[in-house]
Amino acid sequence: MKIDADKLMQEAKIAAEGAYAPYSKFRVGAALAMGDGSIVRGINVENRSYGLSNCAERSAIFTTLTAGNKDIRAIAVAGPDAWEPLPPCGACRQVISEFCPADTPIYYDDGKGGYISSSVGELYPANALMDLSEK
Ligand code: THU
Repeated sequence: MKIDADKLMQEAKIAAEGAYAPYSKFRVGAALAMGDGSIVRGINVENRSYGLSNCAERSAIFTTLTAGNKDIRAIAVAGPDAWEPLPPCGACRQVISEFCPADTPIYYDDGKGGYISSSVGELYPANALMDLSEK
C-alpha cells in the first residue's frame, strides 16, 4: 500500500484546527492512514485538570479502535503552534507500539513548515522485538 505522506500530514493539519487546547493553546492533530484507504483523525483534548489531557495521537488510535478498525498503516502528527519538532510523546509511543509494527511510518511536524519522516521502530526500538501478528 502506497502512503501519501504529504496528504496524511495535510489531514493532520486539518485535524489540528479542531483541537481542544484552551489551556496550553498548543493545537495538535493526528491522522492515521488505514489499510482500507480511509483516514482517521484525532485531536488533543485537554482538561482543566491538566494531567488528564489526551494527545492527538492517542485520540486517533482510540477512535479507530472504537470503530473496530485497527489496521493502521501510517501516522502523521501536525502542530501548527510548534516551534520545534513534534514527535509523539513517550506515552503515545507506547500506545502506538501496541498496534503498529516497527516499520510503520510516522511523519511529524518539524516546527518549520515541513515534516520529518520516521517509523515506529525508530521512535520505540523495543517494538522491533514484539510479535503483533496475533493482535
Ligand atoms: N500533545 C499532543 O497532542 N501530541 C504530542 O505529540 C505532544 C503533545 C498535546 C498535549 C497537550 O494538550 C499539548 O499538546 C501541550 O503539551
